[in-house]
Amino acid sequence: MMDLKAYLEDKRQIINTALKKILNRFTHHDRLIQAMTYSLMAGGKRIRPILCLSAVDAVGGQYTDNIINAACAIEIIHTYSLIHDDLPAMDNDRLRRGKPTCHVQFDEATAILAGDALLTLAFDLLSSAEASKSEPAAKWLRVIHIMTTAAGHKGMIEGQMLDILNEGESVSLDKLKTMHALKTGALIEASVVSGGILGGGNDNQIDALMQYGKNIGLAFQVVDDILNVEGDPLILGKDTGTDAARNKSTYPALMGIEASKRFAAELLNNALQALGHFDKNTIYLREIAAYIISRKK
Ligand code: IPE
Ligand code: IPE
Ligand code: MG
Ligand code: MG
Repeated sequence: MMDLKAYLEDKRQIINTALKKILNRFTHHDRLIQAMTYSLMAGGKRIRPILCLSAVDAVGGQYTDNIINAACAIEIIHTYSLIHDDLPAMDNDRLRRGKPTCHVQFDEATAILAGDALLTLAFDLLSSAEASKSEPAAKWLRVIHIMTTAAGHKGMIEGQMLDILNEGESVSLDKLKTMHALKTGALIEASVVSGGILGGGNDNQIDALMQYGKNIGLAFQVVDDILNVEGDPLILGKDTGTDAARNKSTYPALMGIEASKRFAAELLNNALQALGHFDKNTIYLREIAAYIISRKK
């Protein structure tokens, strides 16, 4: 068995190679493509596509090119969300993945368009004829629906709206949880569930993966908030202290750092419990969950 570091690196390579292949298919290299490529290849952790592939492993599925493309589509949606999240009208951040943010490197209009183009590219990949060849089309439609819901007004975008509306407000714990679950949890949950579906998992397995995904998805944002307070910008590749500066509603702001860490640990525990009756190998999903809680980046 590989250790987690080697496992993550192995999966990251698979994703990065496939992303390069997708970008290489573009026959022109204008400013738009340059901006899309810049943000996509700036060096993210690739945790969402890795979770998708790990869920395929967990249900005993094989990686087809189409499944790897679906995992890439998730990373492409995520990258678009970061480009827009960093815009002056949103979080107004200047550093992302250790590099100037897209609108700083290019300009605001280009960053908006690069984000738009990445989002549509993801669904282009998921719905392409190639994708429907090897698996039943119904399976792909189900995954497309899950991704659309997670990324849109019932998921990430609603969460982003609440994040902006809640700036400077003292919100309840319940509201904060909803916001975090939507803005970050939804896409992470969709990553795991899609991997389970495409890998051929049964209903019980998909259910367990959903519960696992909900918990680590929320935990991921709790830890992101903690790292914004006490992380190292050089390791993180983004600025810290920005949430407090913008009066963001976060777990550390609401309950303090120690209680936030306890909450993240509780979510980890729930995630592991959700996999309790899983009949196949979930060792890496378990290790990734623990990594999400302890990460410094
Ligand atoms: C950052 O996501 C934004 C959140 C949703 C918390 P990641 O921490 O996965 O960022 P990258 O992809 O590694 O840059
Ligand atoms: C990011 O939330 C969520 C999305 C991009 C959907 P944050 O604004 O908290 O993440 P960082 O800290 O900028 O990465
Ligand atoms: Mg934000
Ligand atoms: Mg942000």
